[in-house]
Amino acid sequence: MIKTVATKPFADQKPGTSGLRKKVPVFQTPGYLENFVQSIFDSLEGFQGETLVVGGDGRFFNREAIQIVAKMAAANGFGRVVIGKGGILSTPAASALIRHLGAYGGIILSASHNPGGPEGDFGVKYNIGAGGPAPEKITDAIFARTGTIDAYKISDAPDVDLDRLGETALEGATVEVVDPVAQYLSLMTSLFDFDAIRALVASGFRMRFDAMHAVTGPYAHAIFEGALGAPAGTVVNGTPLPDFGGHHPDPNLTYAHDLYELMMSPEAPDFGAASDGDGDRNLVIGRGIYVAPSDSLAILAANATLAPGYARGLAGVARSMPTSAAVDHVAEKLGIRAYETPTGWKFFGNLLDAGLATLCGEESAGTGSDHIREKDGVWAVLLWLNILAKRREPVAGLVREHWATYGRNYYTRHDFDEVDLAAAQALMADLRAATATLPGKAFGALVVEAADDFAYHDPVDGSDSKNQGVRVMFEGGSRVVYRLSGTGTVGATLRVYIERYEPPGGDLGEETQTALCDLIALSRSLAGIQARLGRTTPSVIA
Ligand code: G1P
Ligand code: ZN
Repeated sequence: MIKTVATKPFADQKPGTSGLRKKVPVFQTPGYLENFVQSIFDSLEGFQGETLVVGGDGRFFNREAIQIVAKMAAANGFGRVVIGKGGILSTPAASALIRHLGAYGGIILSASHNPGGPEGDFGVKYNIGAGGPAPEKITDAIFARTGTIDAYKISDAPDVDLDRLGETALEGATVEVVDPVAQYLSLMTSLFDFDAIRALVASGFRMRFDAMHAVTGPYAHAIFEGALGAPAGTVVNGTPLPDFGGHHPDPNLTYAHDLYELMMSPEAPDFGAASDGDGDRNLVIGRGIYVAPSDSLAILAANATLAPGYARGLAGVARSMPTSAAVDHVAEKLGIRAYETPTGWKFFGNLLDAGLATLCGEESAGTGSDHIREKDGVWAVLLWLNILAKRREPVAGLVREHWATYGRNYYTRHDFDEVDLAAAQALMADLRAATATLPGKAFGALVVEAADDFAYHDPVDGSDSKNQGVRVMFEGGSRVVYRLSGTGTVGATLRVYIERYEPPGGDLGEETQTALCDLIALSRSLAGIQARLGRTTPSVIA
């Protein structure tokens, strides 16, 4: 039976960069998840009888949340609800499935790389029929609805069996539980030269993939150890756990430290990679060399035509504003456009839909292409493997050769986590005000060429996004960027992005933090970080 349940608004349901993220206990508050899901449905039109894809990254509360979403989707009139077996769907696999099925949209339950477990984070994100995150117009409508909602609809039918493949009826809808890997794997085989990668693996090439006890485990087992023939044990931490084994499922040098240590040791295999909680981020490390995400995007763009799916060449490339300009140098050589968008994957969607860009990426370990409308961790690893299979060079050689050709963008990000929100907002406001007076000023050898608060005009839908981060640009291509995170759940996180360009022929082999030390010091003093936030060192250096 379909029930209409009276409810009252919660004040804090504003979706951020990647949907609504809160602590698990908040989501467990009666009506909290229900209100948000109903607000999503109330903001959409014309979905009666249509298909909704539902899945998550397997974190604590995933299964309970999926039952609620399925029962509400059926009660609200969706005709078909497609769920990944066990409630599992990586974010990229969900995007692929939405597109493949021609679904109306999808609901993804994930807090990405944030920790899980009973006291960890949870999240809900709505994706549109193109497969990507809902644009601001929709998320704004959802947020507005959360403020006025007074009832939600839900079926009181027994729980769906999430562990049995096949169809069952739920109110007027059909619920179908599907293999979360099959369709994704078939998409990957259409893009990459699996024969060439199999031959590379058979030749003795060794790799390790760390799934971080998160959603990519089943995908990695099926693809790397299954389809590509890598030996058992290639995939580590390959079973998704509700608390990710107590770790942060964030593939960076802090949280994927074991992998980093291995890759820097004498026992290092040829290639190491990891992905995050929901499978959209990637970390790539060669033997003895970490590949920064901004560099990875540039190297993938320069070599993409080696993969069958990109053999025709790239229409254009896109990067988020704080991502280094390394890919811009590749675009220039290829004679294609490089788009600069605000932070967050949703801004790439229009460029991909319109065929203006083929590859895109962010400094935060997200890389992807027009095959779906999310970033894609396993895809990035496969593109790397395809390139290595064709070039038969070590990762380190490939990276150094890239720098020698295009120059090197030394790059780092310093995060100040859990700082006082009001103090961080004041810091940003003052920086914004200072952008008018900075140009022409010299700080030692560093001369400010331009400064602004980044604004983006979408060339496809004409929309404008303002206040996307303060950029201080110096002569010669160096840059400091400041912005506040849109995904944190406690206080505020100030992100400071620091970059220096060294052209081909310059010193391309310096250690990153050393190469950037003057800019780092300036980034602190310019914003008054110590005085305003009481921090002398960042919480995370990426
Ligand atoms: C962070 C990253 C951003 C990414 C987002 C979702 O957002 O910086 O690149 O798109 O997570 O994965 P932020 O916390 O900076 O708003
Ligand atoms: Zn993620």
